[in-house]
Amino acid sequence: MAWLRERLAVEAKNQLKPLVSLTMIELEFKGEDREPLNVLRTEKLPPALASRIRPEFEWSPALTMNNTIRWGILGTGKIARQFAAGLQHLPDARLLAIGSRTAAAAHAFGEQFAVPHRHASYDALVQDADVDVIYVATPHGCHGENTLLALAAGKPVLCEKPFTINAREAEQVIALARGKKLFLMEAMWTRCFPLMEKLRALVAMRAIGEIRMLTADFGFRAEYHEEARLFDLAAGGGALLDVGVYPVSLASMIFGPPTQMVSQAQLGRTGVDEEVAIILTHAHGELALLSAAIRLESPQEAILLGTTGRIRLHAPWWRPVALTLTREGVNDERITFPLTGNGYQYEAAEVMNCLRAGQLESHLMPLDETLAIMKTLDALRAQWGLKYPIE
Ligand SMILES: NC(=O)c1ccc[n+]([C@@H]2O[C@H](COP(=O)([O-])OP(=O)(O)OC[C@H]3O[C@@H](n4cnc5c(N)ncnc54)[C@H](OP(=O)(O)O)[C@@H]3O)[C@@H](O)[C@H]2O)c1
Repeated sequence: MAWLRERLAVEAKNQLKPLVSLTMIELEFKGEDREPLNVLRTEKLPPALASRIRPEFEWSPALTMNNTIRWGILGTGKIARQFAAGLQHLPDARLLAIGSRTAAAAHAFGEQFAVPHRHASYDALVQDADVDVIYVATPHGCHGENTLLALAAGKPVLCEKPFTINAREAEQVIALARGKKLFLMEAMWTRCFPLMEKLRALVAMRAIGEIRMLTADFGFRAEYHEEARLFDLAAGGGALLDVGVYPVSLASMIFGPPTQMVSQAQLGRTGVDEEVAIILTHAHGELALLSAAIRLESPQEAILLGTTGRIRLHAPWWRPVALTLTREGVNDERITFPLTGNGYQYEAAEVMNCLRAGQLESHLMPLDETLAIMKTLDALRAQWGLKYPIE
C-alpha cells in the first residue's frame, strides 16, 4: 500500500486564538489508515499566512451544538428568506424574530418560517429582549443605519454585503461595535464555506508555490427595471457593490489590500455601473484581474496562478463547492465539499461560534479587512466619478 504524506494546518495551542497558534505539520500516513504514523516536520507559520487560515475541518452542525442562539432578521426581502432557510440547517439556531417596516410583511414572513415574534418596525425588533443576534438584510443604502440601530440597542450584528455604502459609514459602524464591545461581521458568506477553509490551507502550504496572479469574475444578467434596487443609484445599485465586492474580497483574502488599481466602468441609463473591469496590484507586485456585471452573464470562475501550479474554483466560485488543483508533474486533483442546505448556514454557524467563544469579530472576515475592502470600493468608484446621492 502506498505511503502518503499530508500536511495539515493545525492549531497547536488555543482553539480560540488561531491567529497566533497556527503550526504546519507534515505527517506521514499509511494507505487509507488516517492515523498518522510519523510527524515529519513542524513549522510555525508566518503571521501573514496564519491570519488567513484556520485549521482544516469538516464542517458540521455539531460544531455549534452548545446552546441555542436566537436570531432576529431585519428586513423581509429575498436574502432574508434565503438566510431563514439556511438557519433551518442549524439545530442550535432559532429564528425567533422578524422585523419589517410593515406589519403585513412581518406577518407573512412569520407565517412562512414559523417565526413567533413579528415586529412592525426595525426599532421594535432590535429592542426584543429575547433576541441574541440581528441579521441585517436590507438594501445596501440601509446597512449603516440599520446596523447602528441594532448595535445601539446592544445587539451583535451580522450585516449583509456590501457592509455599507462607503468606508466612512463602515468606520462609524465599526467604531460603535468596538466601543460597545459587541460582535459585528460582514456577511461575506463565501468565506465561510468549507471549501474556502481548504483553499486557505492550500495557499498557506504553498501548494502552488507563490501566488502571483488571480482572476475572478461575477457577472449575471438582471432584467432592466429602472426602479429596481440594482439599477437605483440612490439605493447604491450597480455591479461593484452588488457583485464586484465578491472578487475584490477574494483578492483581499489572498493578497491583502491593493497598493494600486486601474479600472473602467460602463455607467448605464440610471447612472449605476453596469459593467466593471479592474486590475489591482498588491504589496509584492501580485496582480488581481477582476470583473463584475449586472447585465451580462460571465463564467463566474476564479483562478489562482502560482509559480508551481494553479487552483481553479469552479463556477459559481462565490458559492464554492469544488476546486481543481493543477500542479507540475502530478495529475489534477479535484476537491469537493458538496453543499449542505443552501450555504447560508455556514456564515450563521461562524457567527454563533464567535458569540459562544466571546469573540467580537470573526477571523474569517475581520472588521479591519472589511473596512479596507470598503476603501477599495470607494477608490474604484472615485476613478469613475460615481457618487451616490446620499454621499
Ligand atoms: N449574500 C448573498 O448571497 C446576497 C444575495 C442577495 C442579496 N444580498 C444583499 O442583501 C441585501 C438585500 O438584498 P435583497 O435582494 O434581499 O433585497 P430585497 O429583496 O429588495 O429586500 C430588501 C428588504 O429590505 C427592507 N427595506 C428596508 N428599507 C428598504 C427600502 N428603502 N427599499 C426596499 N427595501 C427596504 C424590505 O423589508 P421590509 O419591507 O420588510 O422592511 C425589503 O424586503 C443587499 O444589500 C444585497 O447586497 C446578499
